Amino acid sequence: MSFQRRTHMAGELRKEQIGTRVVLNGWVDGVRDMGGVLFFDVRDRTGKSQCVLRPNAAGGTNSPNRPYETARKLRNEFVIAAAGDVRRRESPNPKLPTGEIEIEISSLEILNASEVPPFEVKEDTTANEDLRLRYRYLDLRRPSLQKNIALRHTVVKSIRDYFDALGFYEIETPILMKATPEGARDFLVPSRLHTGSFYALPQSPQLYKQVLMISGFDRYFQIARCFRDEDLRADRQPEFTQLDVEMSFPNEDIVYGVMENCLANVWSAIGLKLPSPFLQLSYHEAMSRFGTDKPDLRYGLEIQTLTEMVRGKTEFKPFLEVLEKRLGVIGAVVAPGGANWSRKQLDSLTDLAKVYGASGLVWIKVTPDGCDSSAKKFLSDDLLRDIRSVCGAQAGSNGAPGDLILVVSHPKWERAYTILGALRIELAKRLELLKGKEWEFAPAWITNFPMFEEDEESGTFTFKHHPFTSPDIRDWADRSEGLQHVRARAYDIVINGYELGSGSIRIHDRTMQEEVFDLLGLTREEQIQKFGFILEAFQYGAPPHGGMALGIDRIVMLCAGTENIRDVIAFPKTTSMQSLMDGSPSVIEERQLKELKIEISKEKT
Ligand code: AMO
Repeated sequence: MSFQRRTHMAGELRKEQIGTRVVLNGWVDGVRDMGGVLFFDVRDRTGKSQCVLRPNAAGGTNSPNRPYETARKLRNEFVIAAAGDVRRRESPNPKLPTGEIEIEISSLEILNASEVPPFEVKEDTTANEDLRLRYRYLDLRRPSLQKNIALRHTVVKSIRDYFDALGFYEIETPILMKATPEGARDFLVPSRLHTGSFYALPQSPQLYKQVLMISGFDRYFQIARCFRDEDLRADRQPEFTQLDVEMSFPNEDIVYGVMENCLANVWSAIGLKLPSPFLQLSYHEAMSRFGTDKPDLRYGLEIQTLTEMVRGKTEFKPFLEVLEKRLGVIGAVVAPGGANWSRKQLDSLTDLAKVYGASGLVWIKVTPDGCDSSAKKFLSDDLLRDIRSVCGAQAGSNGAPGDLILVVSHPKWERAYTILGALRIELAKRLELLKGKEWEFAPAWITNFPMFEEDEESGTFTFKHHPFTSPDIRDWADRSEGLQHVRARAYDIVINGYELGSGSIRIHDRTMQEEVFDLLGLTREEQIQKFGFILEAFQYGAPPHGGMALGIDRIVMLCAGTENIRDVIAFPKTTSMQSLMDGSPSVIEERQLKELKIEISKEKT
């Protein structure tokens, strides 16, 4: 097909081009007829420029290629080649980078027509997300999605350049592989040649990257596609992309340096700034100050632990029950100016605490006349005063309301802090503490994680990070005294309440790896069957090694200022794990199932 090729991109034209003849190739964005004068915009990935056609102008109705007649046929999303002279606009649009110019069209070709789109391709569309996902190619034409996808490209390019400069090799690892447990369900792929056997899609390249260290590659990275069949949330997809990194002979500080600089580089590549060095918080500190291992550090509202201060000073049953337990915690968060909150507002905070496992919530309103509390009968004035003073709560003055203290108690310390952490987040929302901080970034390393996690109901232990993480050798020696005291050499990066990445120094010794598997309840036969290859590889000169993986999608989310992971992935899945555009997952033909010797059970799930 021959047509006039573009001389410029639509978003590039400025007043410097006035007087120049230009050709644009792109999509029609809004046709306006102003008393016979036709206006329309041409849009491409760089932006849009206004075009104008007058019936009597050169190139008007009498022009040989009849552009005016052609223009009358234009509808939104038609693909065109439009040529003409750039001239100054009579009424400039300061909101558009091309707002000072327009193109007086002298030649116009329709390269392809478009059906009427099911929703208008414009930034502030009100179309619901399912419809937009069904017609993803139209949604992707919207400027914000174009910008996010371009941003993603810049992020990934800056990562590749950074690791290349440091001497890391990018090495691809298999997509069809043996299952490695990362805590989620695997996506499985049946093998045709080995009936009854399945490949798993990688939850992460964890074991392969460890094997690459044993193979002597020393410094590896990969922009790796990972697959996890787990419940989706706003920051999760069933297939997502990791920046996966591994190094031989590192310690934690070496990993921290490489990863911090990588992120600083990414942020500066897109014109943002990331504070460095990152704060370091132990898991215990993060939990006891912020009630989560991924705290948003852009605001305070820190948790106050009251356990020891309350001991011996009250007969309040919920507190007494907690004080009896060795690991029980009583803690508080303060809502500045919350003393005048209504009963309804307080009840909804109690409901929230209950959702997270609290049996109730005690509130204390601090006013110039003293403290009022939901547990006033059981808490003496002295105790209320002490709590107020530990929490630094203010009584308010000059008509400004005093503070509200929310007290939670729970026999398990992590649960107590998790409830307080959820309240902290809710208070920040109600108090609008993040207003104006959308482009602030507060990164931190979370360190000293426990190696094992006890299931609250069954009391059995599972791994907190993954089973290839090295325990802290000092704690490992005392493991017989209780697994809950063993810390792992694991670390996370968190920014603004998101877990951006996690990693660890690994086990590189077969005996230690077997013992960890033993503790997790794997028999030696199961260990050989599942992980025999890496156990064996450890015996052939495995170097000390470690690394981490960062979620690329989450990095781009933060850099794009969106809370929806689907906004930064070209073809995402819905929360019910479907691709609405192409209709996957889909039923397969009987013939294919037969070939794989698979029968679909008729049982309803
Ligand atoms: P982990 O499981 O913590 O560690 O994953 C690392 C990072 O990947 C991102 N991520 C996700 N992003 C979107 N959707 C998901 N479903 C999803 N799951 C994880 C997160 C997370 O922090 N092998 C280890 C890393 C290592 O030890 O080196 C691992 O995969 O940002």
